[in-house]
Order: sequence, then C-alpha cells, then structure tokens
Amino acid sequence: MTLATTSVTGLDSAVDAAVATVRANIARFGATYPDDTTTDGWYRPRPAAPGFAEGANRGWTTSFWPGTQWLAWELTGDDVFRTAAEAHAADFVRRVEQDEDLHTHDLGFLYTLACVAPWRLTGSEEARTAALAAADHLMLRFLEPAGIIQAWGDLSDPEQRGRTIIDSLMNTPLLTWAHEQTGDERYADAVRRHSEQLARHIVRADDSTFHTFYWDPVTGEPLRGGTEQGAFDDSCWARGQAWGIYGFAVNFQTTQNPELLDASRRCADYFLAHLPSDGVPYWDLVYTDGSDAPRDASSAAIAACGLQELAAIETDEARAAAYLAAGERLLRTLVERCTPAAEGIGSDALLLHSVYDAPKSIGVDEGCLWGDYFYLEALVRYTRQGWVRYW
Ligand code: GLY
Repeated sequence: MTLATTSVTGLDSAVDAAVATVRANIARFGATYPDDTTTDGWYRPRPAAPGFAEGANRGWTTSFWPGTQWLAWELTGDDVFRTAAEAHAADFVRRVEQDEDLHTHDLGFLYTLACVAPWRLTGSEEARTAALAAADHLMLRFLEPAGIIQAWGDLSDPEQRGRTIIDSLMNTPLLTWAHEQTGDERYADAVRRHSEQLARHIVRADDSTFHTFYWDPVTGEPLRGGTEQGAFDDSCWARGQAWGIYGFAVNFQTTQNPELLDASRRCADYFLAHLPSDGVPYWDLVYTDGSDAPRDASSAAIAACGLQELAAIETDEARAAAYLAAGERLLRTLVERCTPAAEGIGSDALLLHSVYDAPKSIGVDEGCLWGDYFYLEALVRYTRQGWVRYW
C-alpha cells in the first residue's frame, strides 16, 4: 500500500533519506528498541534496567520506533517495514498482558502507535485487544472529582497525585479510539473533561502554557502550574507548546468544544510568534535570538503536524492558509537545517538537534525517537494526500 504523492516539491529527497535510515536501523536493532535519544548522534540499545534486559520494551518512547516503521511502510509498501512493526506490535501485546511498566499516562503514546496503527492499517485483532486493554489501564488514572488524568507515577504517590502534564493531550486519542470501538461513553467523557480542564488551566492568559498543572485530588480544585522539563515554572517549554497545538486540535475533533479549537490556535500563535529568526525553536521559548541555548527540533516537528491538523479545522480561511504555510515552513526548515544530510554528518537519527530534558541534562542537542517519528509524520502529511493519522 502506498499513498498518492501531492505537488509539494523539494521534499522527496528528504523522504528518501529518512526511509533509508529507518531501513538501516531495522537491520541494526532487529526486535530490540533503541534508547530514547541518540548519544553523540547515534542510537544505542535501550539500557538495561532492573527487570529489563538491554533493548527491552520499557519507558514511554518505544512505540515511536514501530510508529516510524508504519509510516515508512505506508510510504513505500515495502514489507520489511511492516514485518518489523508487526514484531513490535506483538511485543506490545505481551507488555500489556504481562502488566509491564504501565503506570503512566503515556499508554496513549505507546499503544496508539504500536497497536492502534496496525489495527487501522492491517485489521490486527490482537493489536486491537491490546490497545483496548491499554485504554482501560489509562482510565484507571482518571481522577474524580477533578476530571483529569494523572500523568505520572503510582496513583497512591502523594507527590504525583492530581498532577497533569500538557503532553497528555496526545494520550487521550487512545481513549477516543476506544470509545469509537466500544461505544462506551466513559472514554469519551474522560477525553472531554480532561481536555477542557487543560484548556482552562494549563494554557495561561498570555497563550503560553505550563508544562505541568496540579489539581487537589480530594476537592478537585485547580491548584498551581509548574514545570519539570522547562526552564522555569513561568516560562514556556517549547515541546509542551507544540503538544498543545496538536493535542487540542485532535481533541477538538472528538468533542467539538470550541474552547479546544481556540486553545490550539492560541498555542500555535504563541509558538510561531516566539520562533527565532532561523525558525528552529529554542528548547524553551523564553530564549530568543542571540541565545546560545540548545534548540528542540522535535518541538518543530510536532508543531508542523499540529499546524496541519489545526488548518484542517480552522473556520477562518485566511488563518487556515497561514497555519498550513507555517507548518510547511517549519518542516522545510528542519529539512534544510536539522538533518544529517543537511549538515553532512553521520548519524542514525532522522532529525538532529532536539532536547529531551535540559534541566536533568538528558539528551541535549541529540536525535530522539519522537523527533524522528513526528519528522517523518510531517513529511508524510506534507507530501502525501489523504494520509489518515494514527492518533
Ligand atoms: N512526553 C515527554 C516529553 O515530551 O518529553
């Protein structure tokens, strides 16, 4: 199966280079998983951890690897990609059946790409069953009376109780899909209430966003915003703002609540207004031209996808065209400035210059699995007509 090519010119060689790297990485990693980010430009196997061998399926980023393989399969129809992605889907079936490392809201990132994608593309019943089981695990994190999904940690951990993060907006599509599959309104209700709470509290009055926001787990009252991966509690973490663009746009399509469309627009306008002149976002939007702070190219890749999604639902034609053009501009900037080919260097990442967690000095100015995934998703979106998102 391959998708029809559109008339967006100049991106074909970027698609070819990305697909060639995915092919080479499949040969290298086999059934195992690369680490979250590269080290000095190269992926190493995911490190061993207590109870997990080197290269095992743990953490929140492993599904971006099969997600990238599904995109490559859609682009080429070459079964080398499908076979690799199906082996990972089987491992995700095992992960949920064996209740391994499921205490996180990132079940949405994990099971949408690893299992909903193969369900959509091949009709795999095993993948569907596993994705529904993951959605049920995610529902355990929906807290009453706040009406929010707790992001991290064990539900009994007082440090984490009542805490959300903006990334969660890309986890809720798993619940939307579960609602579509089962008709169970509990999933749709959780998506609506969680997204509305974030639109009302995680987006600030100036249209920037908090990374993380806490609710009182007993009364449900909104308490305070803060950060974990951004520069300051009151600054704007670039990737969070990009998750907001894409996540609010997708959740608007589920709920039809205009507050969510407005939240996506506001995130987009702030993100675009705080880009430096070369168009590659700093890792926190508090930094501006002249700063030597690292960039986060992955946030631009996420934003490029989100802006296309926003353009498709924007009711004002001129704004829709502007969002689409801004998304394509971001993508072209990434192709021209943040790829191994553009820089003439060796790397097995598709996209360079991202930041995982600067405050903890993890994966700073490196490639990363989600950066690679959203970069290839953006290339698919802007070069192939009629692509249907996995989210
Ligand atoms: N979802 C975690 C991150 O964006 O780093």
